[in-house]
This record gives sequence, structure tokens and C-alpha cells, in this order.
Amino acid sequence: MTGLINLLTRPLLFAMEPEQAHFATIAALRTLPIPAAGPHDPRLAVDAFGLRFPAPLGMAPGFDKGGEVPDALLRLGFGHVEVGTITPLPQPGNPKPRLFRLKEDLGVINRLGFNSEGHAVAHERLKARAARAGVVGVNVGANKESADRAGDYVTGVRAFADVASYFTINISSPNTPGLRDLQQAAALDSLLARVIDARDEMAAAHGRKPILLKIAPDLTPGDLDDVVRVARDRKVDGMIVGNTTIERPATLRSAEAREAGGLSGKPLFELATKMLAATYLRVEGQFPLIGVGGIDGAETAFAKIEAGATLLQIYSVMVFEGPALVGQIHRGLLQELERRGVTLAQTVGSRAAHYAAGF
Ligand SMILES: Cc1cc2nc3c(=O)[nH]c(=O)nc-3n(C[C@H](O)[C@H](O)[C@H](O)COP(=O)(O)O)c2cc1C
Repeated sequence: MTGLINLLTRPLLFAMEPEQAHFATIAALRTLPIPAAGPHDPRLAVDAFGLRFPAPLGMAPGFDKGGEVPDALLRLGFGHVEVGTITPLPQPGNPKPRLFRLKEDLGVINRLGFNSEGHAVAHERLKARAARAGVVGVNVGANKESADRAGDYVTGVRAFADVASYFTINISSPNTPGLRDLQQAAALDSLLARVIDARDEMAAAHGRKPILLKIAPDLTPGDLDDVVRVARDRKVDGMIVGNTTIERPATLRSAEAREAGGLSGKPLFELATKMLAATYLRVEGQFPLIGVGGIDGAETAFAKIEAGATLLQIYSVMVFEGPALVGQIHRGLLQELERRGVTLAQTVGSRAAHYAAGF
């Protein structure tokens, strides 16, 4: 059925301007009856951050920024959905056009700049589905004009404590000027201290929600040393590696490659996987990692796990391949585990040194 949806909708969506196509997809997920993908094989279940994920692959943030369609995405077969990034106040983001398909490269460039409906609207939606099953993480960010950006993350943790399965602290978008400076050691330490205090304050009423830190794939080895040291000292529950890149690999062929913004999709795979493996080696098993960036099928998904990912997320290649990819990846992972006679847990980080080479 998802294969049929793929066939029918792709030419139509590709004829549309990318951001319009995005809104059409969200509207379709909101209104059409989405057939359930069926139960996941128990061998794909993952326990991490104190949560049970029925399967490793989740929907990355940026697709459902406002928490409109998490349940439809779970029905498509995702093991979890991360909504956001959500900023405290509504803000429009950057001028359009700001989203570009790199067709020849299976990549995307975006400079959306945290277009967000704000906490109140998204919270209302998530509150309405809070009794339903499924892991729904909330990715929080800061308003562009905020006088206290760290304070915006604290506000986010307080605002969504009753509805979030976990939180992601997104300090790695390249499209809000200065945001990535929060990855510097002193700023990060203070930010995480405040965020974790807020989480702990809310725990009595709503349970202890895991705090994950999402980083850029563009950090230098020295930056990464600092980030991981602070994350370990502050006892975050996990890290997500990573966001879009400001790099432009020489292999890019699409004319849109010259657009400013963050690059994602297939051309991001190598860089993001190297950063993931380098992070895994530095974390030394203190907490699990979510690997994201350039997954385009079961082979790259398996490679992410070998590089150090306990869980996975995808966004950009879905734009080209459609929702059938989710089931294909989960089935392919299972086949690969069977073929090798190993479990998912045994695979995590098994080739981290290989993938981190040259970092
Ligand atoms: C259009 C678009 C919007 C995005 N918006 C966000 C966002 O709001 N917050 C965030 O943490 N990441 C955002 N991302 C980054 C993705 O979550 C993901 O980290 C990145 O795209 C790499 O994965 P992929 O190669 O599978 O797309 C966005 C990506 C795209 C393509």
C-alpha cells in the first residue's frame, strides 16, 4: 500500500515547489486514512534512554515541525517520531525560497531558519494525542530574536514535559546566526546545566524525560572533544549526530548545490557517519547515540549502526523515495542481522574505528 502511495504521489509532488510539496504531504498525512504498516519484528526492538523503541528507524525533526502528524508517521512504520524544532514564540523563518531539492545528488539544501508556530500551538496538538502509544520526541530551539537563547531551551523543556517522550536540544542548525556557538564548551555547559535542572524540576509531575543533544557534523576534532566532555559531565541521556552540513562536497552535481543553507541527504552520509563514529569512540558507552544523515536504504542504515548508532533517523532521501523506504530499511536490517548471525546490540559500534578513520 505504501508502495502504491509512492507511485501515485511522487510525480505530483515533484511538479510542485518543494515547500508546497511539503505542506501537501503533511496535509495528506493529516487527512487521508494511512494504512498501518503492521507490527515490527521483536528482534528490531531497541531499549534506550529508558524508553522502548519498537524499531530503530525514526522520522528526523524538520519534517513535522509543529507536531501535526506524529501518529500518521508511526503508522507508516517509523519506530519513533521527533517533532520540531519548536521555538517558544511563533516566527516565520527566512524569506522564501528556502528549500531546494538536489535531484542529481539525492540531497536537500534548506535555510528555513526555524519557521515555527511556537510552543502553545504545538503543545495543544501533542496534548490531544498524549494518551496514544508511540515514542514522540520533542526537539526544542531558540527564537532568532531571543535575548536569552539558553532560556528558550529551558522554556521548551518546561512547556512539553507532559507530552514529550524525550527532548532534543538542537544547537546545531546552521540557519539561525550564532546558534552553533552554543556548542562551545562554556556556553554548552551552562545551557545543559539549566536544561537538566528544568527537566529534574518537572520529573515529579511528569516523569524524568531523557535529554538528548543534537550536534553539527561540521565540528573539528577539538570541538567534538569539548562537546562530548561536557555532555558526559552533565550526564545527558544521549546525543544525535547530526544536523545538516555547511560543507559542499566536490561531488555535488545539481545546480541548487550553490544555495546557502544546510545540506542533507545522500551527500551528507560520509561526513555524518565519520562524526558519528568519532563521537561513539569519545562517549565510551556512557550513553547511546542516534545516527542521522544520508541514510538511503538498509545498507547505509546498517553502516550507521556499525559506526555507533543505537537508533537511526531519516528525512531527506524520503523526499525522493517515499514512505515505502521505512519498511524496506527495517526488513533489510533484519535480513542483514540474520545473514551475519548477530543482534542489533552486537552491531552497535562494531566498526567505529573504521568509520572514524581520518577524523
Ligand atoms: C527541510 C529540512 C528541515 C529540517 N529542520 C530541522 C529542524 O527543525 N530541527 C533539526 O534538529 N533538524 C532539522 N533538519 C535536519 C534533519 O533532522 C537531519 O538531521 C538532517 O536532514 C540529516 O538527515 P537526512 O540526511 O536523512 O535528511 C532539517 C532537515 C531538512 C532537510
